[in-house]
Amino acid sequence: MCGIIGYVGNKCAVPILLEGLHRLEYRGYDSAGIAVIEDGQLSRVRIQGKVNALVARLAERPFASTIGMGHTRWATHGKPSEANAHPHTNGDETIMVVHNGIIENYQILREQLTARGYCFSSETDTEVVAHLIDEAYTGDLTQAVKRALRKVTGTYGLVVMHTAHPDEMVAARRGSPMVLGVGNNEMLLASDVSAFLRLTNRAVYLEDDDIVTIRADNYTIDTLADKPVTRETERIEWQPDAAERNGFPHYMLKEIFEQPETITNALRGRLIHSEGIAHLGGLDKVLDRLKNTQHLVIVSCGTSYYAGMYARYVFERLTDLVVEVEIASEMRYRKANIRPGTVVLGVSQSGETADTIAAMHEAGRKGALLLGLVNVVGSTMSRITEAGIYNHGGPEIGVASTKIFTSQCCILVMIALLLGRFKHLSVTDGMEIVSGLERLPEQIAQVLDQAPYIRSVAANYAHYDNCLFIGRKYNYPIAMEGALKLKEISYIHAEGCAAGEMKHGFIAMIDPSFPTLCLATKDMMYDKVISNMQEIKSRGGKMLAIATEGDAAIAAIADDVIYTPANLDFLQSIPAVVALQLFAYYCAIERGRDIDQPRNLAKSVTVE
Ligand code: AGP
Repeated sequence: MCGIIGYVGNKCAVPILLEGLHRLEYRGYDSAGIAVIEDGQLSRVRIQGKVNALVARLAERPFASTIGMGHTRWATHGKPSEANAHPHTNGDETIMVVHNGIIENYQILREQLTARGYCFSSETDTEVVAHLIDEAYTGDLTQAVKRALRKVTGTYGLVVMHTAHPDEMVAARRGSPMVLGVGNNEMLLASDVSAFLRLTNRAVYLEDDDIVTIRADNYTIDTLADKPVTRETERIEWQPDAAERNGFPHYMLKEIFEQPETITNALRGRLIHSEGIAHLGGLDKVLDRLKNTQHLVIVSCGTSYYAGMYARYVFERLTDLVVEVEIASEMRYRKANIRPGTVVLGVSQSGETADTIAAMHEAGRKGALLLGLVNVVGSTMSRITEAGIYNHGGPEIGVASTKIFTSQCCILVMIALLLGRFKHLSVTDGMEIVSGLERLPEQIAQVLDQAPYIRSVAANYAHYDNCLFIGRKYNYPIAMEGALKLKEISYIHAEGCAAGEMKHGFIAMIDPSFPTLCLATKDMMYDKVISNMQEIKSRGGKMLAIATEGDAAIAAIADDVIYTPANLDFLQSIPAVVALQLFAYYCAIERGRDIDQPRNLAKSVTVE
């Protein structure tokens, strides 16, 4: 969602801020702005729309300042508009604030501030923070920020500047990420390291309630309660180039094509063929508790939720655990089923999804062992969990998650394999699974080779306004994920359905104008899915099947077929979903959609 970049250093700030904002665009936003301190005065430029419009506006006003802040806003309180875009200021424009998160008590604070004579120029919750700091300021900016934040409830990652402190910037976090970039004679603040990786790969992740004060050559961190703290400086391994498109027209396509490599990275060093087992170093310290648990709860949202759904079938096949999969936004308000020994595994690409983090906090409070499967190193999830596993998938920029979904599925299979091998799973079964996993990068490459063919198939379906996706067992979550991909980027109405459920209602929708994508790989549910396909055929429904190589018979039922390679039943679903990703991508291309920044969506959903 919203993105933040701040800079204090020895270089001209504006190009650095704009570069940072470009790198944060993937998070989703509807307006953008920057502010600098020049000749002791605030200069602020804001626009409704894209960062390129901000760049154009700034071309008319060159600034030489070496301190500044920038923001991309995804509207929550107040419509997308220039007046609501950040940075926000106090009345005399001496204080500037950029903010991610939600100030939950902003209404009452706004009423109180108004009663004390403060005037508001936006509809945002953020503006109250600028006025609270103004009220609390007596010459020390850091102290004023703290005094203001003590009155605030809700979540924030925020950065503050004051014209009386032209070489200083203050930032704070609670529930919304904030990371400090440590350079040579320059410091940066951002909601995401990708915003400053070109300048430095040394990062300090702030914890909740930390307050950092930066100058070009030093920084200090303490807490809202005035407690000095030391936070480690980490070296970020991601290369800045990893976030470039590398010749692909869209990040989404680049990321789809990266999957042979991201799966290889997810598996690297984690499979022991001779023992038919996985070794996941991140879980070592909790392995005994994991081996003894009877109850696993997987919690996540969106695509990560479908990875969890897929994992439930795999855990049921490879272990004797009772596995539940929870949508985080529901679980956080339910009476969660936490028993003695329950393990809660959060699955999240970003590690910042507000609902997932909240559901995990709730489970932790009730005594669950918290584990995480997360891609973004140093993210909130990686810090609130006792142990966990990284995807090592590199930055995923496209709003539609692709490469991390397949990586999540593979890692979840490895966790199931690891636990299964401590129970009934034999070494030979384990070896077969290890081999199956190792074949996946090559098998995904085979699907990618079919991209031109999948594009031609997609062209026959892109004009429909609706689309049903069906699958059973392992392929049911894949059908859900295929439908999500299609609707996210093409805006075609798509629904995923357990094939067996179709006759309980959905079949009423089928007619020649309503096509179905059938996941019909060769597994124990194959015959059942074929029966469902016959039912669709006899109602005149057009069908595209994803089938296992060599299945010539299916071509007589489906109108079109995309073949994917054979593997163990639960592993076949992984190359199959790659075909669906390409299908969604090419349908969206046919419809001329903004693929990397689809309307209304944000990459990282950091508010409730
Ligand atoms: C995926 O294409 C979506 N944009 C979205 O559903 C996403 O998977 C969800 O918001 C969860 O994000 P996370 O994995 O970062 O927690």
